[in-house]
Amino acid sequence: MSTIFPLLPLAFLICILGLCSSPASASPTKIGNGYRLISLEETPDGALLGLLQVNQKNSVYGPDIPYLQLFIKHETDDRLRVRITDAQKQRWEVPYNLLPREGPPPLSKLAIPIGRTPRDPITTSDYSGSAFTVSYTANPFSFKVKRSSTGETLFDTGSDPTDPYSSLVFKDQYLELSTRLPEDASLYGLGENTQPHGIKLYPNDPYTLYTTDISAINLNMDLYGAHPVYIDLRAGKAHGVLLLNSNGMDVVYRGNSLTYKVIGGVLDFYFFAGTSPLSVVDQYTQLIGRPAPMPYWSFGFHQCRWGYHNLSVVEDVVANYQKAKIPLDVIWNDDDHMDGHKDFTLNPVNYPRPKLLAFLDRIHSIGMKYVVIIDPGIGINSTYGVYRRGLANDVFIKYEGEPYVAQVWPGAVNFPDFLNPRTVQWWGDEIRRFHELVPVDGLWIDMNEASNFCSGKCTIPKGKQCPSGTGPGWICCLDCKNITNTRWDDPPYKINASGMQVPIGFKTIATSAVHYNGVLEYDAHSLYGFSQAIATHKGLQGLQGKRPFILSRSTFVGSGKYAAHWTGDNKGTWEDLKYSISTVLNFGIFGVPMVGSDICGFYPAPTEELCNRWIEVGAFYPFSRDHANFYSPRQELYQWESVAESARNALGLRYKLLPYLYTLSYEAHTTGAPIARPVFFSFPEFAESYSLSTQFLLGSSVMISPVLEQGKTEVTALFAPGSWYSLFDMTQVITSKGGMYVTLDAPLHVVNVHVYESTILPMQQGGMLSKEARMTPFTLVITFPAGASDGQAKGKLFLDDDELPEMSLGNGRSSYVEFSAMSNKGKVKVWSEVQQGDFAMKNGWIVHRLIVLGLGGTTASGLQIDEVSAGEVEVNVSEQRVLEKEGDIRGTK
Ligand code: GLC
Repeated sequence: MSTIFPLLPLAFLICILGLCSSPASASPTKIGNGYRLISLEETPDGALLGLLQVNQKNSVYGPDIPYLQLFIKHETDDRLRVRITDAQKQRWEVPYNLLPREGPPPLSKLAIPIGRTPRDPITTSDYSGSAFTVSYTANPFSFKVKRSSTGETLFDTGSDPTDPYSSLVFKDQYLELSTRLPEDASLYGLGENTQPHGIKLYPNDPYTLYTTDISAINLNMDLYGAHPVYIDLRAGKAHGVLLLNSNGMDVVYRGNSLTYKVIGGVLDFYFFAGTSPLSVVDQYTQLIGRPAPMPYWSFGFHQCRWGYHNLSVVEDVVANYQKAKIPLDVIWNDDDHMDGHKDFTLNPVNYPRPKLLAFLDRIHSIGMKYVVIIDPGIGINSTYGVYRRGLANDVFIKYEGEPYVAQVWPGAVNFPDFLNPRTVQWWGDEIRRFHELVPVDGLWIDMNEASNFCSGKCTIPKGKQCPSGTGPGWICCLDCKNITNTRWDDPPYKINASGMQVPIGFKTIATSAVHYNGVLEYDAHSLYGFSQAIATHKGLQGLQGKRPFILSRSTFVGSGKYAAHWTGDNKGTWEDLKYSISTVLNFGIFGVPMVGSDICGFYPAPTEELCNRWIEVGAFYPFSRDHANFYSPRQELYQWESVAESARNALGLRYKLLPYLYTLSYEAHTTGAPIARPVFFSFPEFAESYSLSTQFLLGSSVMISPVLEQGKTEVTALFAPGSWYSLFDMTQVITSKGGMYVTLDAPLHVVNVHVYESTILPMQQGGMLSKEARMTPFTLVITFPAGASDGQAKGKLFLDDDELPEMSLGNGRSSYVEFSAMSNKGKVKVWSEVQQGDFAMKNGWIVHRLIVLGLGGTTASGLQIDEVSAGEVEVNVSEQRVLEKEGDIRGTK
């Protein structure tokens, strides 16, 4: 729930009166005179270590830090690090235990050259690695990162005396650096942010990164997650840039430049060489952690809602899905099952434990799963065991030596400090206790930006009980005072927090509150959800010995290693349906590929038509869940017969595609490859696709082209060069040499899904549950370029025992199969190679059908499968013949 939303009209009024300004439009002020490089040496391991000294001082936003350490290293063949920090004092940076990476050079090294007479200019030469070459200018200091193979400049902090944005600024609470960009650079990333202009970054849209509970309906604002990373795509070649920093920041993108304005930490840049978008994400996730393996069932459909008042309602929902013959794998509870909105409890009246356990036995026996919410705020209540044990273990974030008091759904709360190892231990123990009470299959960690209904320093009013729950529960009832007397609560530079430059402690933990080891909330703020996900993951993994499933609202660089994400509180509107695509695609880039949006919108009520169209998109989100607000009318897919029909259709296809989706999740886990991808990921040379935000790919070759506008029964879709076959109607083929727009029929129950040429798509027969769908025989859809006399196709399939914590090969409980096909003058040959593991064979999976598409004009005269001739067949594009033969997973016998 956005706690800030009701305040927006006032804020807008203030803006209309001209009392607010956005950093993007603020007039430039000179805030630094740059630095000069006064020494540079090569370290024994081939890195560069330099010392920068400030030029003429400037006191805007605080005094300049006099000496900076410069560290440059080609860390791998395709990754470069450029780190700039205070040369004399340790500064805050993202903890190395949270995000494991190479350590920085020790500070003791730094003192040596200080005080030495600066040599100006010092001799500099290019610093070359296999992918990048760095060149630098000594005074004012700037650097360029070039692609070694072409000499092209990718990042250029070059100083231009006429441009006030161009110098390096480094103060305690304000860091600034800019890069110039050529006009043809297309940038993607820098979230979390609802981007009304689509996936490609849009000049002068603000990109403020600071984790905030402000509903996703607010455009261009700092939302729940913070991911200071972008991909830069130029004429088919991509590279990536990460600024690893957890402090609040504005990133100002002007089209021909990009400026970071950061309120703390260090400038720690990582450059990823690409050159394909996929390889950028591969190199990125190699550094930040590969996406978590997800259980098979999590690719099924999920139903949730805030306001399932009692267990019978939940039972009814499950029964109604079954009755309507709409697939459903997972049923969720928002905080309705809790006692007084307190984590890890059960409401004894509405969710009596014996009945809940009997219900869970029933659904578990058919393979369905159950997930519940947990919020980080722990109700302050001396009769509440979780709180008492937390207090006894000293797990909470402190303010002036006492646990910081905030308010969330249970009323007054304290926030656990997940940077504290004691907290991680206690949290794991609470998860274990709860799991003994209720055998949940996954956890949903919400409100972890962290969200607070109050701001500042608060106390519980004497003799007053704060209401819990919705309605009055989210109006601050504590006695609170604004804190303005510290430079943390009132920093010199105001990021564009909540799009309104509100104080950064607004409706969250006070930024002068203190974590473990004296870490300030000011620095660690955006790590809250990330650190909670790590602790939750640890708790679940240790407990179940199974692959954990965690859904987290707040995320940071590296969160994908532990959790899935949904895009938060969206609106049931056509615009929000459209925006969901860009956000989902962005999270793929951020290394969090398991992502979706609340299908049909969180609030207010969607129209029936919108809900039809939303399930047609949402059925292809990697994480597919219908969720609604407490005050919204019911919107389960069976509530309208028309929506049920669209759901059966779209989810029907999803359930047939589950083996493909699961194989994509294996690829995500091993290479970082997003499950849902922008079209340019497969066609980086196809410039027309660079801003395409209304269509997307699943993997490299399945494209979804949904209807996103009211009243439309057609959709104009862009098709990249080559042949595309409709997956619903296998006779339709769209072929072009240079790519083209095609207007497709899309009546209410139809979503257009196409598969690209040269693909072998493993599909199964679908079903009402992933558990049942995954045991059905396989169909391989084999596509060749339409009309060509020869062609090749390839596909992959990963299968494993998804109860295992790890998703890997070589453990005896997984298989990885590569399918290949060739067509030559009408003859089709199909074969497969089991790369590793006989898990598939042991489980008796068979391929019983091949569908060959794309031998237009020619007639196939023979089909050979795994060296065995399957007899005479005819295949052509207008009348596709389905070839049926039984066989094991290696092909048909
Ligand atoms: C937050 C979540 C939403 C949830 C609600 C109540 O607003 O974003 O999904 O339903 O809290 O827990």
